[in-house]
Amino acid sequence: MGKTLTIDSTLRCDVLVIGAGGAGLRAATAICEQIPAKKIIALTKLTSPQKSHTTTAQGGMAAVDPKDPIDRPIFHMFDTWKGSDCSADQNVIKKVCEMGWEEVVWLEKHGMHFSRTEEGRIAKRPFGGHMLNFGDTKAFRACYEADRTGKGIMDTVWSESLRYGVSFFGQCVATELLLKDGTCIGAVIFRYPEGKFLAILAKATIMATGGNTRMYQVSSNCRGNTGDGLALALNAGLPVMALEAVQFHPTGMVGPGILASEALRGEGAILRNKDEEPFMERYAPTAKDLAPRDLISRAVVQEMREGRGLFHEGHNAPHVWLDLRHLPKEVHEKKIQEVCSFFKRFVGVDPEKDLCPVTPTAHYQMGGIPTNEFGEVQSDTQSIVPGLFACGEVAAASLHGLNRLGTNSLLELITMGRVTGERVVEYLKDAKKPEDLPPDAEHIAFNQFSTYLNARGKEKYGQIRDTLRNLMMEKVGIFRTEESLVEAIESLRELKERAMHVAVGTTSLKANQDLWQIWELNNLITVSMVIAQGALMRQESRGGHFREDYPERSNEFNYHTLASMPEFDTVTFGKRPIDMSIFEAKGERFELFDYIKREY
Ligand code: FUM
Repeated sequence: MGKTLTIDSTLRCDVLVIGAGGAGLRAATAICEQIPAKKIIALTKLTSPQKSHTTTAQGGMAAVDPKDPIDRPIFHMFDTWKGSDCSADQNVIKKVCEMGWEEVVWLEKHGMHFSRTEEGRIAKRPFGGHMLNFGDTKAFRACYEADRTGKGIMDTVWSESLRYGVSFFGQCVATELLLKDGTCIGAVIFRYPEGKFLAILAKATIMATGGNTRMYQVSSNCRGNTGDGLALALNAGLPVMALEAVQFHPTGMVGPGILASEALRGEGAILRNKDEEPFMERYAPTAKDLAPRDLISRAVVQEMREGRGLFHEGHNAPHVWLDLRHLPKEVHEKKIQEVCSFFKRFVGVDPEKDLCPVTPTAHYQMGGIPTNEFGEVQSDTQSIVPGLFACGEVAAASLHGLNRLGTNSLLELITMGRVTGERVVEYLKDAKKPEDLPPDAEHIAFNQFSTYLNARGKEKYGQIRDTLRNLMMEKVGIFRTEESLVEAIESLRELKERAMHVAVGTTSLKANQDLWQIWELNNLITVSMVIAQGALMRQESRGGHFREDYPERSNEFNYHTLASMPEFDTVTFGKRPIDMSIFEAKGERFELFDYIKREY
């Protein structure tokens, strides 16, 4: 007979934050700044918030000082719109671009050490697709702390959260959202070290679980980024938006795909093929190595396909070169020191002397849980789910549409984190304290965990995960076709079936690695299925979603895809319109905010 699963205890708080990275903690601090006495619980899957994926962000956070003599927020808005391949929401673009500088100032006031110029101003570097004068020439817009910007952000929001007394639960995941009469009243959580389920009843719940690209063989993401938040939403019957929009960063270090920041190219590094030709000139004559990521990643793969790539014996993988040899010693030592040390440590090359082998790496999920511009989660009919909020990479408001510009993610997680926190403050004014657990609480979590604990068979989760990663890379990667996607969907069904036959080594719930990894594997397969189905449905190419059988953008798909999958493989689609409010306001150069042609 199977083990009986129970809720060990029920805790109560004002706000539950699921995920303690940059977005979740910026939301928590925004709440505390206005109502410090509230009880906030923040969960992290990791041992400490400092291990969150935000910490790994390297290159910078885009923001325009409204007093800047050259750059202007409207240029940033245009770049974000064009970068998205005309598929982001303009109300969100406007809000986030206008708030950016305030948040830089907030971070600095709360202890972040932005790098500075000789004159003592906050230093800025260029990044792909960020330009002056509506696309003229590169803009210096990314504020940074050397090549450890994410670490600086995490130090700041974490210490602020601690100062306000936010309670942290480590090695803990949410396994089920608690919904009562359509309102979210908290979540069931699982504490890994003790192997206990707890219910946390909260007036407001914020989803901030971050990204999910660990279903790809080459990924810049932390190993914990397994799509748990997206799976949680899908299992609760909520939709997710535009998951087909997976971003590949063009320069992952060959092998595992650790990020080689775009900051390197911002500082002057050049991509070269096997003949050492600076090939980006052929693909993006104006922006060259600082074109947006979707375009460069495709160019890199194209070079490889046409025989101008190289092959790394040690990692058994194709690559091109990133050349940093010509950059001044001071740049190597002060501005990109950490990334250079990664190349030395993980790839065995010295960027001051050697060419560095790089390859595109799955980096970012531009889709996510749909929210409005205030971080309120929307249902499939686009009504608000009371009590439920989302921000950061797990959410899609949508600032990025189908292609994100580098440095717009740190910008988004900080600004939308704050906006979401402020909206929660409003919500709490009238929110009632949840009294009891819903009658069917824990049925999703317990069904899943019982299935995993009782499974019998010889399948190994590591093998299934490897197969999944190769499959996603090959068939749902940078280039997609109907044939590759149909095959991927069929294989995902088989992998799901195989995942049902992985036996755990022990049925103890305490620190059970097998159980934890099987749960993660199922989340990865769930999210992969929605990515593949969304990619199959979108018969066009736009931003990071490229269909070789439909290579052009099509007006027919001028909308965000909403996908629901309450049970595995029962995907249904809806549509959310793209917000065109900057265009419709008919202000300065409004015609550029129409569905424009995208050239760099
Ligand atoms: O290349 C980078 O440093 C990454 C930045 C980003 O994804 O925004």
